[in-house]
Amino acid sequence: MEEWFDVAKRIETSALAAAQQAGLDTEAFSADVRPADPRFGDMQVNGALPYAKRLKTNPREIAQKLVAALESDDAVSTVADLSIAGPGFINFRFKPEFFLNWLNAFSSEDAFRKSASRLYACERVVVDYGSPNTAKQMHVGHIRSIVIGEAICRLLEYCGAEVTRDNHIGDWGTPYGKLFYAYKVHLDAEALKNDPLGELERLYKLGSNLANEDESVLEECRQELVQLQAGETESIALWKRVNELSIQGLTEVYDQLDVTYDYYLGESFYRDQVAAVYRELEDCGLAEESKGALVVFHPEHKRYAEQPFIIRKSDGASNYATTDLATMLYRHEHFKATRVIVVTDDRQKDHFEQLDLTTAKWFEKTGRKRPIFNHVMFGKINGDDGKPIKSRSGDPIRLKALINEAVERAYAIVKEKNPDFPEDELENIAQTVGVSSIKYADLSTNRTSDYIFSWDKLLAFEGNTAPYLLYAASRIQSIFRKIDPTELTDLESKASPFETDEEMTLARKILEFVGALQVTIETLRPHMLSTYLYELSGAFSGFYNANKVIVEDPGQKARRIILCQRTLLALEAGLSLLGIKTLKRM
Ligand code: ARG
Repeated sequence: MEEWFDVAKRIETSALAAAQQAGLDTEAFSADVRPADPRFGDMQVNGALPYAKRLKTNPREIAQKLVAALESDDAVSTVADLSIAGPGFINFRFKPEFFLNWLNAFSSEDAFRKSASRLYACERVVVDYGSPNTAKQMHVGHIRSIVIGEAICRLLEYCGAEVTRDNHIGDWGTPYGKLFYAYKVHLDAEALKNDPLGELERLYKLGSNLANEDESVLEECRQELVQLQAGETESIALWKRVNELSIQGLTEVYDQLDVTYDYYLGESFYRDQVAAVYRELEDCGLAEESKGALVVFHPEHKRYAEQPFIIRKSDGASNYATTDLATMLYRHEHFKATRVIVVTDDRQKDHFEQLDLTTAKWFEKTGRKRPIFNHVMFGKINGDDGKPIKSRSGDPIRLKALINEAVERAYAIVKEKNPDFPEDELENIAQTVGVSSIKYADLSTNRTSDYIFSWDKLLAFEGNTAPYLLYAASRIQSIFRKIDPTELTDLESKASPFETDEEMTLARKILEFVGALQVTIETLRPHMLSTYLYELSGAFSGFYNANKVIVEDPGQKARRIILCQRTLLALEAGLSLLGIKTLKRM
């Protein structure tokens, strides 16, 4: 299956051969193939200009010579018409038959997938996303890591990588002392049964407040922590119970968001592996004592020459940095990861930069091959006032409540649009539209920017939203309901080449699908894919409004049905990569 980058490669080969044929100095010539300005063509060879500059000759004459040679090459003349623009850009305008043949090859979901799966075929990637601290509710801020991480996992898999989804939960450390103290003294057993995460969160806050007010409570909390860290049976049993409840509570939300992890290897999993980290980093001369703590400096770095990466605190305890170093080692040794991706907010930028620098040196000194590391970071979700979004009471909004509200709001909208749909279908549509809308609001904005959360905007049927795209997909489904299935056979042999501008624009857009995945995965920015899907839907609307699909002429009808089919395939595949399910009707 051919992709734009394959075609670009072919054009490059032809251009190099043409340069030789035209008697250019091939050492000094490079083709420089790029996408063209759509007004003039599909692809462009830009090499004539720099060549002419180097050899101090006329670029337009060089371009003319190249075009003459290219036009005598069958591999070019059968697929494109050439023209020269400006001082010597050579534009390739692909012929309609070429587009049709190209599109014909993408006859199933599988064809798109096969083509994409070349991109990351040799990668083994551990994606660490979600990763909340346990014994707490997830709030609205947690959604970004979950939906961005899940989209990245799906994209990587589609592009051929082997993906491990790891939820690196924060399930160890200081908060447990306070939580356990309060659990033993102030537990409301009934509340724990009905709303485990809510009750655990209440207990932690209570323990923390009491410890702040009273020195003796603080001491008891410390003792709780010491007992836990010493592995005392009773403490460990309580810790296990708290974790079970936490994971149960988290899973409810993950289920709603259609996210399933392969592993929950949280901070506690690495607690016995930290001693080896201290030893290795000291042995290879990276870690040093500073004010009683064990730290790593990076003298070559402007900031990290002074700002220490603390890997053991002065009280002897391990910390976030220690477990993350142990985690890196484990992902390398156990999962044989070629790449590790961690998805968190941008406040952890320094931590992960220091982690990456430290790992690079550590692995190099110990002769290990370091996985590529990507910290995929994101900004905040703000309210209308531009400040981080809060509930009316001033507390962070619970993620569970947010999802429920989205579904309720979607229900009201869908019911109004389709009062005669059966109740269970309405509920199903509302669930999909509600959840998709929150996910898509996140995935359609550049992750490094903050964005403003607005119900009206994210549930709108116009603009770059989930409802708009879902509606576009369901509209194509409805076209197929009107077509007699016998007409759907042998489309490829019946189809005549494209004629209208709208057909050509849509065909081009569909063929950009794999290219769009490629930039998305290279930049790890899902909004690149959503922008593409939005443009694809726009091209489809443009086509559908101007070109009737059910027409008399069999060749015209067949090619237009092909366009509908391929649009739907690309749209559904793209949405599912963003974690969004499509609907037959809505
Ligand atoms: N638990 C952390 C937090 O809530 C995020 C963990 C991210 N993963 C990691 N390997 N550090 O901020």
